[in-house]
Amino acid sequence: MKNIIKILAVVAMIISFVSCQNKRKPNYQYMPNMYESVGYEAYGEYEIFPGQQEAMLPAEGSVARGWLPYDFENSPAGYQLAKDTLVNPIKYTKENEEKGKELYDIYCAVCHGAKGDGKGILVQREKILGVPSYDDVGRAITEGSIYHVMYYGINSMGSYASQTSEHERWQIVQYVQKLKAELEGKTPRLDVGGVVEKVTEEEPAVEEEHNSTTEVH
Ligand code: HEC
Repeated sequence: MKNIIKILAVVAMIISFVSCQNKRKPNYQYMPNMYESVGYEAYGEYEIFPGQQEAMLPAEGSVARGWLPYDFENSPAGYQLAKDTLVNPIKYTKENEEKGKELYDIYCAVCHGAKGDGKGILVQREKILGVPSYDDVGRAITEGSIYHVMYYGINSMGSYASQTSEHERWQIVQYVQKLKAELEGKTPRLDVGGVVEKVTEEEPAVEEEHNSTTEVH
C-alpha cells in the first residue's frame, strides 16, 4: 500500500512538471542575449534605417573586392569594340589552361561540346539549336568577343558573369582559344616557355654585375 502511494506521488509529480510546459510559448530565457542578439539582425526591421530595413544597397559606384567594372556596353557596338580591342590580361600558362578546362567542362561543354565543335550533349539531344563551332569562320571569335559573350550572354546563351570571377573568365577564354586552335589544326598559344627562357637568360647577367662591383670594392 505504501509503495503504491509512493509510486502515485512520483507519477503525479512527473505529470505536473510535464504539464506546465507550453510548447507554443517561449520558455524561460536564462541568458536572453544568447537568443536576442544586441547587434542588428540581417534583414531585420529597425526604425533607424531608411525604409526600416537593415539590408541596404551598396553606395552608388562601389566596386566589390576582386571585381572590376566592365566598360563595354551590352550592345552590338560594345560587342564589336570588345572583339577588336579587348585582350586577355593573364598569361597563357598550363596552370590557367587546366583551370580553364575545369570551368569550361562545368559551364560550357553541355552545349559547346568538350572539343568546342558545338556538339555538346544538349545539342545531340536536340534541346538547343544553333550552337556554333569555335572555328566558325563567319564568327571569327577573338579573346575579347569570347569574354564579352560570357559576361553578357548572346541570344539563347546566358551570361556567366555571376557564376565566374573575372580571372576565371579569362582562364576560360584561354581554354576556348586552345580548342579553337586545335579545331583549326594550329598549335595553341602558350606563354610559359618564352617567359621562363627570358628569366633564366637575364638572371646570370644581373649576378655577374653584382660580382664585379663587389670585386672592385
Ligand atoms: C545553353 C547552351 C550554352 C552554354 C551552356 C554556353 N553557350 Fe556559348 N553559345 C550558345 C549558343 C546557342 C550560341 C550562339 C548564339 C548566337 O549567336 O545566336 C553560343 C555562342 C557562343 C560563342 C560565339 C559568340 C560570337 O561571338 O558569335 C562563344 C565564344 C561562346 N558561346 C562561348 C561560351 C562559353 C565560354 C561558355 C561557358 C562559359 C558557353 N558559351 C556556354 C549556347 C551555349
